[in-house]
Amino acid sequence: MTQGSRIPGFYRLSVEERQQCVAERAQLELAELVGAVAGGGLTTELADKVVENVLGLYALPFGVALNVQVNGRDCLVPMVVEEPSVIAAASNAARMVRAGGGFRAHMLDSLMTGQVQLYDVQDPKAALQKLEGASAELLELARDSVPNLIARGGGPKRLELRDLGEGYLVIHVLIDCCDAMGANLVNHVSESIGPRVAELAGGKLGLRILSNLCDQRRVQVTCRINEAELLLRGDRGSSYFPPALDSPAASDVIDAIVQASRFAELDPYRAATHNKGIMNGVDAVALATGNDYRAVEAGAHAYAARSGRYAPLSIWRREGNQLVGTLEMPLALGMVGGTLRVHPTAQIALRMLGVANAGELSMVAAAVGLASNLAALRALATEGIQRGHMSLHARSVAAAAGATGAEVERVAATLSRLGVITLTAAKKCLLELRQAL
Ligand code: MEV
Repeated sequence: MTQGSRIPGFYRLSVEERQQCVAERAQLELAELVGAVAGGGLTTELADKVVENVLGLYALPFGVALNVQVNGRDCLVPMVVEEPSVIAAASNAARMVRAGGGFRAHMLDSLMTGQVQLYDVQDPKAALQKLEGASAELLELARDSVPNLIARGGGPKRLELRDLGEGYLVIHVLIDCCDAMGANLVNHVSESIGPRVAELAGGKLGLRILSNLCDQRRVQVTCRINEAELLLRGDRGSSYFPPALDSPAASDVIDAIVQASRFAELDPYRAATHNKGIMNGVDAVALATGNDYRAVEAGAHAYAARSGRYAPLSIWRREGNQLVGTLEMPLALGMVGGTLRVHPTAQIALRMLGVANAGELSMVAAAVGLASNLAALRALATEGIQRGHMSLHARSVAAAAGATGAEVERVAATLSRLGVITLTAAKKCLLELRQAL
């Protein structure tokens, strides 16, 4: 990137000016960027090759989160999301984090798990011994099934055996999928070794499929926010950064966020919503970059419940006059294969982000998840999100009433001031505005 990811006033630019600015910073051809995002990137003809029974396309907003710095590197982060505020909130929170040194992230291993199920195993103990004894042979068989992946430096690395009881055994193949998310690779390896596994164990062969609980492909990200940063207004009003935040003391904000974290740690009902706030960021990056967000969701929530009790994926603590947040979650994102082969918007999103490998992509997505979480907690722990949310809602009601261009903000401002955010009020307000001109 030519300059950093901090671009004050970006939201005030027109869509065309934003495209120009991002193209310059990310060193992309403007025409290429515009072409890739126009109309959602995909054509109906292409979509017809991707899934079945196609009738047309369904577009979502494609935006960019600013201010994100991960391991000292600035990035413009593409996000696809329909919920207002998410992108502005992540950008504003990333700005606070930036002042404390940015996000620090790393991958805790990078292995996907393939499962081979056996059932009706008559003597599970003996079967486990046999499989254990044959692990070198099975690993070799697994490796032979993916020569291209081996050539790229990845491939099956080790096996794990599990006795589930009642005659059920499962053998895990742990595979380094390099820059792929790896679902097809893992399923292929699992299917390749399945018959031999069943032969050795003497049971019936069941499923051969990856596990979305990819707990050996985890990302950990931390951030530190200096007390004073927590009182900063956002670059832009949003649900999470209301324009007129009535600031409490910065120190109280840290304590209130820590209390919010403890609430999620003690209560699965709150933990689910806390994690939803994290996934607002993670899913938006996964979707923009052509990744399987359902797989990401499944892994995240299964990991959150690993202790037997559903828990938050992130926690927040005070350290001196800093707020420190840590997020750890499984994250299998890829940069090759799948949707990326066909979707021009996903391809440009990755180029805009400029990450070198799938691990870096996961680290950025997790950082945006932690930023989204911070933004939500900061608002919830102070004045709540509803007032800001309603003023954003007013913009979409204004647009639904027929307001265009500058009319949208003027109608929305009037509705917010009156505290009546309905379509009827918006139509009346628009009529009066036009008659006054
Ligand atoms: C809304 O999309 C996300 C939040 O509910 C997250 C949270 O409560 O932490 C605001």
